[in-house]
Amino acid sequence: MNTAIIGTGYVGLTLSSLLARTGHRTYCIDVIPEKIDIIKTGKSYFYELGLDNLVKYGIDSGNLIPTLDYEEGLKDADVVFLCVGTPSGPDGGLDLTYIFDAVKKAAKYVKDGVIFVQRSTVPVGTGREAIRLMKEVNPDLKFTYLSCPEYLREGAAVLDSIIQDRVVIGGDDKKAAGKIFDLFEKIEKEAEEICSETPEISQYANAYMKNNNHKDTNFSDKCMVMCLESAELVKVCSNTFLAMKISFANNIARICDSVDANVNEVMDGVGMDRRINRSFLYAGLGFGGGCFPKDVKGLKKSLEEHNIDSEFVKMVWKVNEEQVEYVVEQMKKMDIKNGAKVGMLGLAFKPGTSDVRVSPACRLGKALAQAGFNITATDPQAIEDARKEFPEEDNLKYVDTVEEVFDGAQIVVLATDWPEFKELDFENLSRLMSSKNFYDARNCLDKEKMSKIFNFDNLGA
Ligand code: UGA
Repeated sequence: MNTAIIGTGYVGLTLSSLLARTGHRTYCIDVIPEKIDIIKTGKSYFYELGLDNLVKYGIDSGNLIPTLDYEEGLKDADVVFLCVGTPSGPDGGLDLTYIFDAVKKAAKYVKDGVIFVQRSTVPVGTGREAIRLMKEVNPDLKFTYLSCPEYLREGAAVLDSIIQDRVVIGGDDKKAAGKIFDLFEKIEKEAEEICSETPEISQYANAYMKNNNHKDTNFSDKCMVMCLESAELVKVCSNTFLAMKISFANNIARICDSVDANVNEVMDGVGMDRRINRSFLYAGLGFGGGCFPKDVKGLKKSLEEHNIDSEFVKMVWKVNEEQVEYVVEQMKKMDIKNGAKVGMLGLAFKPGTSDVRVSPACRLGKALAQAGFNITATDPQAIEDARKEFPEEDNLKYVDTVEEVFDGAQIVVLATDWPEFKELDFENLSRLMSSKNFYDARNCLDKEKMSKIFNFDNLGA
């Protein structure tokens, strides 16, 4: 099948390379020349585990064709996936300019019978508007428009795209939906082979597959067809529900701090209830990244537009907004002086990515700098992105080594729970500090062990 993907971010480039890997001639289209130039060299322009190898495979085989030219990319396509960004707009709603521009442009070049698949996360009602715009641009075009949201996580984008928990399709053309299911089923059928030939993911693949509740579920049992609007809501609700779990855990962490309980123990107990489950109940600095913050705000906006009370979603947002400030206050209770050097481990919004969009770690760095401390921070992947999104200041510096972070610091804070940070030689590093305070804002280090080295405190315990 000839496929085309508009947008080469986490969603688009991962999907393009997997479609190319499973034998489809696949154009990936973007409007930014630098991105296309890098993909042409057989690499991804952002860090994502295992993706470079897949992109290289696609380019070497000739199945993956990066282009800036909409006409070239779309004219023979049987299926077009829309994977463009939908960032937050100034009013808290999602900015749909990229998606509407893409469909208007695409409608001029595609052939009759084409299937459009909206993969980007969008507010309910977007699909209907996209269909209207396409008909306006090209009234004679015969096309099908489906919504098929993606659920991949950054850092696990490749594995999440190979084995999906569910494939939800919104739209009323069951035959077209069947064709999309077939594309994804083929990817899943080749899961083992793809993982084994991708060195970076092969070591994680076994554990991932073992822990995946759906590894033994028949592909067809994961497929759902519903109306366009329902499918759009499934995605936004999934993200908001997960964000709600995080805000709940963060709220409970505060009472744990007050009564000397441990939020990890509490959530271990709560999460054992199969109806609730343990995932996304990890208290920390709050949720960040390119998805949860914008989707929670987006759902709030959608509710308001329909005159529906949005207090519930507002609480999820409020707890998250307060969390960084709460951590600053907790750190101030430790033995540190005004203007002290604070070392910070982590800048990415979560481990496994270089992404710092709405990163709670970067927001913590800024908040500490504003509170008058001198921050020195590092990250295994995100320094470059942090320099762009959260520029360095006189009292906020990004450094390459953990030694520089500990050197002369009165306190070190763990802000992103990268596995490599958990394995540091804290005993030796602590000797570089001017005063041995440590705050674990992710509550992921062994308190007993750390307390032997540091004046140690952690969030929610
Ligand atoms: C999220 C969803 O998990 C994906 O299913 C979805 O496809 C994606 O958004 C999207 O809409 O594109 P992602 O943003 O990559 O994926 O990151 P997550 O792993 O979900 O983490 C989001 C944030 O929540 C991070 O800042 C993370 O540190 C935080 N988090 C997560 C917690 O603070 N506690 C937890 O227990 C879990």
